[in-house]
Formats: sequence, C-alpha cells, structure tokens
Amino acid sequence: MTAQRRTFIAAAAFLMAGAFTTLPALAAKPLVIGFSQVGAESEWRTANTVSIKAAAKQAGVTLKFADAQQRQENQVKAIRSFIAQKVDVIAFSPVVESGWDTVLREAKAAKIPVILTDRDVNVADKSLYVTLIGSDFVEEGRKAGRWLVDYAKKQPGKTLNIVELQGTVGSAPAIDRKAGFDEVIKGNPQLKVLRTQTGEFTRAKGKEVMEAFLKAHGRSINVLFAHNDDMAIGAIQAIEEAGLKPGKDIAIVSIDGVRGAFEAMIAGKLNVSVECSPLLGPQLMQAAKDVVAGKPIAKRIVTEERVFPAEIAAKEFPNRKY
Ligand code: AHR
Repeated sequence: MTAQRRTFIAAAAFLMAGAFTTLPALAAKPLVIGFSQVGAESEWRTANTVSIKAAAKQAGVTLKFADAQQRQENQVKAIRSFIAQKVDVIAFSPVVESGWDTVLREAKAAKIPVILTDRDVNVADKSLYVTLIGSDFVEEGRKAGRWLVDYAKKQPGKTLNIVELQGTVGSAPAIDRKAGFDEVIKGNPQLKVLRTQTGEFTRAKGKEVMEAFLKAHGRSINVLFAHNDDMAIGAIQAIEEAGLKPGKDIAIVSIDGVRGAFEAMIAGKLNVSVECSPLLGPQLMQAAKDVVAGKPIAKRIVTEERVFPAEIAAKEFPNRKY
C-alpha cells in the first residue's frame, strides 16, 4: 500500500469516527422527569413507585426519583433540587395538601411544568400545576359509606357503632375519604361514629390505634372504616388478638384493593375494599410528553375504579396487578 493510500484510509476513518461520535448529539434528548414520592408507607405506595419507575423505563424517560419519607420538607427540598437541575418536568405526590405555594411559584418562575400524581394540593393559584392524575378520593369515601348503608339495611333496627382509622393528617385522601364517607352516612339513624383517629396509612399504626379503640369500647364496636387496606390489615391483627373475629364480630370496610386486602377478604376477615389504583405510571409519562410537546392537557385526569366486596374476592384475585 502506498503512503498516499494509507493517508487516504486514515483520513476516511477519522472522518467516519467523527460522524459517528456526533450521532448521539443529533438523536432526541430523553425527557427528564424529577419525581418526589411520599414514601413507602403502604402496599399501595410500593405498587405506585414500581408503576412509575417501570413506565419511565418503558417510555425512555430519565427519571430522577426522590423518596420523601413522609416529610413535606423533604419534598420541598427535592423540588428545589429538580429546579436547580433544570429537569423538563417535575411530578410529585404531595404528602399533605397545604403549604406548596412558594415552591410551586419557584418552579413556575423557572418555567418547569409541574404534574401532580395521586394527591391534590391546596393552592389558590391553580396555574401552579398543569394537571392532577389520580383517584377521586371523595367518591371512594362515598363508596365505602354506601356499602355500609346497604350492610345496615340487612340488620333493620340495629345500631352499628363505627370506629374510623384515618390516613395521614392533612393529606388529600384522609380529608376527602372522610368527607365522602360522612356525607353518605350522615343522618342515618343506624350508623354512629364512636371514635376517629389517624393510623397514618401504616399497618403498625393501624394495629396500635385499633388496640386503643378496642380497649375503650370492646365488643360495642360493630364496624371499622379504615382509609386504607394496610391500616385495616394491622387492625385485623389487633381484633384477633382481642379474641374477636374480624369480618364477623366487626365488619371491616377499607380502601385500595391491594393483594393483602384480597387475601384478607378470601380468609373472611375483611368485608369490602374500595379500589384506589396506584398504576399511574403510564398516564404520568404520557402527560409529561404531552405537556413538553405543548399539547393541551386536562386539568384533572381521574382514575377509573371499582368496589370489591368479599363475595367476589376469590374470582377477582387472579386479575389483580398490585
Ligand atoms: O394517596 C393514596 C393513599 O396513600 C393510599 O390509599 C394509601 O394506601 C397510601 O398510602
């Protein structure tokens, strides 16, 4: 090979290498979403995290995930860090409803769109977020209340004493589920709420508070309304340890529809679970892509949900995805 030909081949190789190294720069930049999650308090939350991470992977989205461990200040810090990193979209599931105005104004000033998933915020300026994707918690509370009204009808003349395990104080699901439930049972002479207290959406706290309810009211408790399945499952343990039969001596109504609740229903220990779907990942990815592409987007995207009474639990169990 002549020296001239060798020089030609080397130059061609150099140019080709250059062309290939510049290729990625031409490819579309992946969308970057900063997501602040509430924590890992329940089976529901774990399924929600799995759904968001899997959907991001599937959609080719770079996800910056931060676990707030139930603390609003951690979520505020995470949002500020996402702003500093100039992510394309910020998404978060707010641990509580109030106290978001300042940080959301900072995101707006940085021109970063904010998408809420699962839980709402209480802000006067609704332009601080693009959309809220998630359940109608008031309706979930109503569904729980309607089930109980029907249950009471089957025992005419009997007063049913209710204890209620609320979710995290100040959170949208705790506020709204209580409101929906109260709205439906209000004025029903058979239904009387004896005690209501937070169980923080966890099994451990649900058990602890149920133990206290049982200590104070014992066998006069007829119904437990738990704002989520995890607290109901914790309470079931407390009821059994008190020598009573959950699902029979005390009827139990809860919310989420997680696998653990289905197992409890099949075992006859839980009477009904109102569905609250955590599978929000695909909708979040689509909404983020749409908002960045400048497409119009609905201010509220509501998840479709069902009610699962114990009678259909065994049939539905194989279809459950969380
Ligand atoms: O915000 C949704 C609620 O949060 C779920 O019902 C509960 O299980 C979770 O912790």
